Amino acid sequence: MSEITFHKATLDDVDAYLAIEQKVIHLRMYSGISDREEAREDFATNEVYLIKKDGVVIGSTEYQIQEGGIVYMSGLVIDPDFQGLGIARKAIEFRLSLVGDAKRMYVVTHPHNSKVIGMYLSYGFMIESWKDDYYGDGEPRLILVFDRSK
Ligand SMILES: CC(C)(COP(=O)(O)OP(=O)(O)OC[C@H]1O[C@@H](n2cnc3c(N)ncnc32)[C@H](O)[C@@H]1OP(=O)(O)O)[C@@H](O)C(=O)NCCC(=O)NCCS
Repeated sequence: MSEITFHKATLDDVDAYLAIEQKVIHLRMYSGISDREEAREDFATNEVYLIKKDGVVIGSTEYQIQEGGIVYMSGLVIDPDFQGLGIARKAIEFRLSLVGDAKRMYVVTHPHNSKVIGMYLSYGFMIESWKDDYYGDGEPRLILVFDRSK
């Protein structure tokens, strides 16, 4: 049986990380990272984990702890060759096992990204707002929030 594992990424992993990003960066509903400098900056400001299947990198997942302990569930990418196998759900559960007791967590995703929206809603996140042109690429985004005070 194949095994999915999560590995804290270091700067040595930037190229492996970019190789997966390359496979999805063309998607209109995904605003990804395309160069080493941007990736290094991302690694410096986020907790980045590579996802491996039987030891081979097939995705990445990340989060960022912001002011006041707010958690931004930042990145989640699965290699298209390995999508539809429940790996993204495992990646969400992995991050929730690390930071799921935060008082507020949020995700930013495209309104057409129904896989992502459906999964986070299933963990109690709610759609909080719609932002036009969120990343400056002309595409809107939804903000999904899990807030313990609500
Ligand atoms: C979004 C993404 C991470 C999902 O990865 P994945 O490993 O294929 O996801 P999973 O196999 O865990 O499936 C996720 C859920 O979506 C559901 N799903 C599949 N196709 C769907 C569709 N067309 N509409 C709605 N839900 C769908 C699955 O049934 C599953 O739900 P379940 O766990 O309740 O059965 C992957 O498609 C990806 O990397 N996309 C490009 C990058 C991206 O958009 N990242 C998210 C940025 S916020």
